[in-house]
Parts: sequence; structure tokens; C-alpha cells
Amino acid sequence: MQTESGHQRPIVTFSRLIGLLLVLTLCTPAAWAVESGMLSITAEGVTAARAIFAQHPDQKVRNDDYLAMKLVAPEYWHYSLMKPDFETGMLVTRTYRITTNFYVNARTKHMDALLMQAAENGAVQVVNLGAGYDSRAYRFRETMPTVRFFEIDLPAMIEEKKRRLAEALGKVPDYVAYVPIDFNIQNIPDELRKAGYDPSRKTFFIWEGVTYYISAEAVDSTLRFIATQSATGSSVVFDYMPLGVIQGDFKRYPDARALSFWVAYRGEPFVFGIPEGDSATYVSKRGLKVMSDLHPKDLENRYLTRSDGTLDGPCCSAFRIMHAVVPSMHPSGVD
Ligand SMILES: C[S@@+](CC[C@H](N)C(=O)[O-])C[C@H]1O[C@@H](n2cnc3c(N)ncnc32)[C@H](O)[C@@H]1O
Repeated sequence: MQTESGHQRPIVTFSRLIGLLLVLTLCTPAAWAVESGMLSITAEGVTAARAIFAQHPDQKVRNDDYLAMKLVAPEYWHYSLMKPDFETGMLVTRTYRITTNFYVNARTKHMDALLMQAAENGAVQVVNLGAGYDSRAYRFRETMPTVRFFEIDLPAMIEEKKRRLAEALGKVPDYVAYVPIDFNIQNIPDELRKAGYDPSRKTFFIWEGVTYYISAEAVDSTLRFIATQSATGSSVVFDYMPLGVIQGDFKRYPDARALSFWVAYRGEPFVFGIPEGDSATYVSKRGLKVMSDLHPKDLENRYLTRSDGTLDGPCCSAFRIMHAVVPSMHPSGVD
């Protein structure tokens, strides 16, 4: 193409090239899940966020995940936006102030609190669905030695987790059952039972940072499995996104824009959400009863407010955390 000044203008401009690359990234099959045999980059990112907030100077905001720093791949810090300053011990720089990181800190604290409550209420099994580099099975070993932990994740993630545990703890603990499963294609009940899961016992299910990465069918069947194949009083905590985030309504969820593009670019796009306001109906149709459904403001008030009453940082608008219990009678309206 010729311009008025007579110069040749390239048919493929730089911005078009970037746009084309983005479209190709979003449309290739590998972009619709963690690719088989690959490691989850989002699992790394949330572990890094936990590690940083476990060093927070204010005890009220700090989380208890003292193992997270040992479980993050050291090379992660080279390409992450979060940069710990190992020399001064002040492990945060300004770039940690991404709203998702505050959310992850609040989520860790909330799910830890619910786990302790579940154990006090008699849960004897904990199933961690999409465990990534979660350290709860090891951190809570002393406080709940008789609780049996199961960790489910993709086969490559389980192998990498074991390798990192062997380095961090000296050996792979024998008190955790590792269950390699792809939620999108495999049957959780069969694989869990083979690993020793007992559906007649009270169980606490942790499903942290996973639902929005997997298919609607996989979310549906997992909740139905929990509702029908665990003892009355068992419960699940999981986080989810409002459907608007998945549909790209970034006017309503402005801080989800960059995050959505980043996870898609890294091959783990957000694909599942629940329509805003429908979450209680959604879980009750799958046989569960809502105990709590926390929104960003609730999380800020409970977990992100400093000792002096000021807000440590804003919680990402794109996430909600649901805690739901297996009732003695199935709620009416179960599909
Ligand atoms: C954001 S990470 C969260 C990890 C962990 N729950 C945490 O909070 O640290 C998402 C996890 O879901 C796992 N995951 C994603 N798709 C999965 C699938 N189809 N089957 C099993 N696990 C899956 C990933 O491997 C990864 O460990």
C-alpha cells in the first residue's frame, strides 16, 4: 500500500500483528485448559501471592502460609510482577498491589478459617480439588493429625508438587493421598475411592481457584458428587466468578480486564461463571445449602483491614467465595 508521501505502508502493521497473535492465542485448543503434561502458571502465581502476604508486617492482614515461599519455583520471581526484596526482608514492592493479590490473601485466610471450623465440627477427611501448591495438608498436620487429606490435580502438577515437597520438607509425606485427575474428562468418585476416600464420613472439600478454569459440566458434576457422595454435614468451600466477567463485562468488573487477558495468554482462560445473584439457586439445585457467599466488600472487612482500621488494599471485584453444606434432606428443587 502506498501513502501520500510515496512511502510503502506495510500491510501487516505492528498493532495488527499483536491483535492477530492475541486472537490466535485465544482460539487455539491449548488455550482452553492447562495443556496435558504442562504445569499451571496460575497455581504458581497464587502461591507467590500467598508467600508475599505471609510476610505482611501487620499480623491482622498476614496469612499463615509459611510454606508458600518454599513451594514457589524460584525462577517465578524473575518474570513475575511481584518482586520480593530478600535482602531487607521487606518482601513486597509496589507491584504486589494488584487487586487479585489482595483477594488471594483474603481467600487463603477465609478457607483456613473454614477448614479449622470443619475439623472442630467433626470432618475427618479433607479433599482438596485442584490443590496446586496448596500447603494446608502439611501446615495443619499437627493441629489435625487424624484428618485424612486427599489432593487432586492434573498428573503433571501432582508430580511437580511431590518434587517440590521432597525439597521443602525432606521427603514426600506419606499421610496425604495424591490423586491425579483431569476434572474435565475423568470421574472423581472412582479415582477418589481407589485412593481410600470413604463417602460415609464427614468431609470438607476445598475447591480454591479452580471453578472458572473448567467446564460447566465439570463444575456441575463435582458439586453433585459432593452432595450425594459425602456424609450429611460435609461441606465445600469454592470460589467462583460472576458470569459477567467471563462475558467480558469490564465496565462492571474493571480490574478483571488485564487479569482475563493474562490468564488466556498463559493458556488458562476463564471459561465458567455463575450469573450474578443466582449463586444460591445454583448450588441448591445441585443438592447443597448455602452457609455463606462472600463478596469483595465482605472479604475486605474481614481479612484486609489493618490493625489501625485502614484498608490494606482493594479486593478484586471478579471473585466470590461460597461455603455450602450437605443438608440432611436434599433441598426441594434439586434437578
Ligand atoms: C489457580 S490454581 C489453584 C491451585 C490451588 N488450589 C491454590 O489455590 O493454590 C488452579 C489449579 O487447578 C488445576 N486444574 C485446572 N484444570 C484442571 C483440570 N481440568 N483437572 C484437574 N485440575 C485442574 C491446576 O492444575 C491448578 O493447580
